Amino acid sequence: EQLRGIVRGMPKAELHIHIEGSLEPELIFELAQRNAVQLAYQSVEELRAAYAFTDLQSFLDVYYAGASVLLHEQDFYDMTMAYLRRAAADNVRHAEIFFDPQTHTGRGVPFETVINGIHRACAEGPISATLIMCFLRHLSEEAALQTLEMARPHLDKIIGVGLDSSEVGHPPEKFARVFAQARELGLHLVAHAGEEGPPAYIHSALDVLHVERIDHGVRAIEDAELTARLAREQMALTVCPLSNIKLCVFGRMDEHNLLRLLDAGLAVTINSDDPAYFGGYMNANFEAAFDALPLGLSHAQRLARNSFAAAFLDDATKQRYL
Ligand code: HPA
Ligand code: ZN
Repeated sequence: EQLRGIVRGMPKAELHIHIEGSLEPELIFELAQRNAVQLAYQSVEELRAAYAFTDLQSFLDVYYAGASVLLHEQDFYDMTMAYLRRAAADNVRHAEIFFDPQTHTGRGVPFETVINGIHRACAEGPISATLIMCFLRHLSEEAALQTLEMARPHLDKIIGVGLDSSEVGHPPEKFARVFAQARELGLHLVAHAGEEGPPAYIHSALDVLHVERIDHGVRAIEDAELTARLAREQMALTVCPLSNIKLCVFGRMDEHNLLRLLDAGLAVTINSDDPAYFGGYMNANFEAAFDALPLGLSHAQRLARNSFAAAFLDDATKQRYL
């Protein structure tokens, strides 16, 4: 139908994509072979069959196992370049890409190997792309502080820091000092909050960490005062529709609160989160939401516009898209 074509063709920015979550099963097996890494799965089909998640943690276990094939700079480059090409095909013009250094340094892969491979692909890729370094919230504050130290010689390669992994039990407050240091360094700040965790985590991401965007944030709607505040401040939410269904945050796409968030005046964006694991890249996320919910052309234009408005781009560059 006509709206479908418009949505597919719209220029968009992607603001919530974990590069390790773009690692397709075929590339996992190719890298496993190239690097002689033993996987717990015998085939691409067997691995894909493991992508039946019940919650965030059941996904993270498989996601960290998949990332174990990444050893050399070229592996990180190949993964990132594959994502950038795929995103370009969906008319993503700019991507702000999360990476999880601790997933790799914890296995003995040097920080430099990770960031240099990912960054080189961003510099050479077909679309504009910048990097946001995420701290794993299930690990300690000390480990996050050490990771920020490792990033110091590479600050020219990252635009910001984020917070991901197991949310419940690991509130934003745990990383107050890490984010204060990152802020001192002039880095942009974002955090996952209100995916599985309560609205209180969104409050503390804003008030304690001073984030500039909320990743997911869909549980904000449980708190009317918070919802009003997010609308008033035009705080962007990077919503990930297919992720939310795959991780059982909502039972079905027609139960997703994306339209309710838009109707409440929030600065919602659509993103893919971990496209290789959740069944699709940007356009698949837009299509799944537009197929299930009564969204129209004005919503599509608002979502695209929001994505550029919330991007960490200079005003002149933004104006070209807005
Ligand atoms: N939530 C938390 N951590 C993550 C996610 C997510 O959606 N994807 C990759 N790491
Ligand atoms: Zn995420």
